[in-house]
Amino acid sequence: MASLSRNLLRLRPRTTTPLRTFSSTARSNLKVLSILYPGGKHSSVTPHFGPLAQSPNPQPSLLGTVENELGLRKWLEDQGHELVTTADKEGPNSEFEKHLEDAEVIITTPFHPGYLTKERLAKAKNLKIAITAGVGSDHVDLDAANKTNGGVTVIEVTGCNVVSVAEHVLMTILILVRNFVPAHDQARSGEWDVGAVASSSYDLEGKTVGTVGVGRIGERVLRRLKPFDCKELLYFDYQPLNKEVESEIGCKRVADLREFLGRCDVVTINCPLHEKTKGLFGEEVVGWMKHGAILVNTARGAIVDKDAVAAALKSGKLSGYGGDVWYPQPAPKDHPLRYALNTEGGGNAMTPHISGTSVDAQVRYAEGTKAILEEYLSGRHGYREQDLIVRGGGYVSRAYGERAKRGGK
Ligand code: NAI
Repeated sequence: MASLSRNLLRLRPRTTTPLRTFSSTARSNLKVLSILYPGGKHSSVTPHFGPLAQSPNPQPSLLGTVENELGLRKWLEDQGHELVTTADKEGPNSEFEKHLEDAEVIITTPFHPGYLTKERLAKAKNLKIAITAGVGSDHVDLDAANKTNGGVTVIEVTGCNVVSVAEHVLMTILILVRNFVPAHDQARSGEWDVGAVASSSYDLEGKTVGTVGVGRIGERVLRRLKPFDCKELLYFDYQPLNKEVESEIGCKRVADLREFLGRCDVVTINCPLHEKTKGLFGEEVVGWMKHGAILVNTARGAIVDKDAVAAALKSGKLSGYGGDVWYPQPAPKDHPLRYALNTEGGGNAMTPHISGTSVDAQVRYAEGTKAILEEYLSGRHGYREQDLIVRGGGYVSRAYGERAKRGGK
């Protein structure tokens, strides 16, 4: 498919040379374990929208599911490798734990993460590489991975779904600012009470929006906000944009989190989950936000304290919370952010974890996963620098907190 190869070319500029310590011979007979979400009856759906729908040989829309296995099964089996795929990932009797010990490669996705905890890594005696089919590798205990089997490589498909997430962020901001969900509920339920919804519906124009994290997603969010004529576009990040990009977007860095939050009407979280961001938006930090502000989190569920956010909505401190990330995933039925509402009975724009798994994004992360696997199986190990999170016992990425730097982002 022409669009597939175009995407692959975009994803695979080789920028790294293999490290000398890694074997350069092709491998055979190895076990690949993949943990993906179940597509069920939807796994046979093919694209019906946009250029993907024009393909004469359409692939399934849900490439990243247990049923479709990122399109890897035949390719791996033809090379003599074993592929085990499951969605059963929790607890000691899960399929995940059963196959953990002999898997040399583990592939998982943030949408249905196979959590590679310290305890699980200790059991994974053969594990050499953990591939994230997507972006965000916090489901792996990265410090423990650095100490496992001489350093497990943790690698992801950088950039594969950043546009998908940025679009979801924009949508969520507008849904909350304009009070869309309660208005749509009225339309569907046969009600008509304009006052009830219009009393909490505003314009985005003239408001201040800020992103925590201005990497690939955060920057794209700011760029997409530019035509909305916001009062200010701000960001908080220890890796600043260069001055030309700042002036092109018309945004400013605020180095102090408390000052940053005190200026924003809308805050969007676009940084990875690591030890400095876990639980960051707890009672104290939410308290630094403006009264009635909106918080959007498409980064990771554990960056916010779910009870603190639910309480802030209830008290009126926050007028809206939205996004698509939860901890753990799948979110339990009693997760408070499924049901939390603001003082007017609205303000909740949560969805299951879907923003980065659009049909278009799945094509890109399936291709990117295969390209990484190909580098591993061939023994070339010519990974893109920007895909590497940890390797050889240390951090390559600079996005997982300020620490000793080895290059890459
Ligand atoms: P990126 O690596 O391009 O940018 C992350 C930025 O966050 C970096 O500039 C980094 O310096 C900054 N950062 C790290 N710690 C910070 C802190 N304590 N305070 C402020 N900034 C901090 O990553 P990208 O592609 O923009 O993705 C960001 C995150 O979004 C991912 O790590 C993942 O958790 C999440 N994500 C969610 C998806 C979804 O489907 N909901 C899909 C893709 C990513």
